[in-house]
Amino acid sequence: MPDLLVSLYSTQLADLKRKADDVSVSIRPALPPELHLVVNWVRENFSENWASEVAIAFTRQPVACLIAVDGGKLKGFACYDTTARGFFGPTGVDRQARGKGIGLALFSACLQAMKTLGHAYAFIGDAGPVDFYAGTAGAIVIPAPDKGIYEGMLRSMPK
Ligand SMILES: CC(C)(COP(=O)(O)OP(=O)(O)OC[C@H]1O[C@@H](n2cnc3c(N)ncnc32)[C@H](O)[C@@H]1OP(=O)(O)O)[C@@H](O)C(=O)NCCC(=O)NCCS
Repeated sequence: MPDLLVSLYSTQLADLKRKADDVSVSIRPALPPELHLVVNWVRENFSENWASEVAIAFTRQPVACLIAVDGGKLKGFACYDTTARGFFGPTGVDRQARGKGIGLALFSACLQAMKTLGHAYAFIGDAGPVDFYAGTAGAIVIPAPDKGIYEGMLRSMPK
């Protein structure tokens, strides 16, 4: 899967933010006391590798993991600056809650946070749903011929 590049200064990001503003779930940085809940949820719903990245995101201040909460329930998460500086991800939304704009809202909030921290571009490492990133933020594939930072990485089985 390719790495992608997103400009944090493109006009498409303003459109993305407008769409995100219409999403009714709460998007906010996770709190340190929530670490065990979020890490376990990501492990159960996605993978051990992603749970490890989330644990790293919690070591940052501000916590570099945003969560989507609806009715007191965790519905999704998104991290930035975890595997490498400037990287967005991992991210995931509860299967039952997909298609309601939550992934878009998490992505938008992370990109805004990264821009505030001084990034001009975000990378999406090893991107799965390329069309999601291209459609929401105009992400383009970085034409690198190899696996970059992920070359030789040990992987847990996906859930
Ligand atoms: C990718 C993911 C986070 C999207 O979350 P979501 O809440 O379902 O997405 P949204 O409802 O915000 O979708 C926003 C737009 O992207 C589109 N979209 C959503 N998932 C998509 C996908 N997998 N491929 C292409 N487009 C997608 C939607 O159709 C929507 O487009 P529209 O505004 O034109 O209707 C979610 O499907 C998920 O958790 N997938 C499994 C984990 C994963 O692959 N994470 C990314 C790792 S790089």
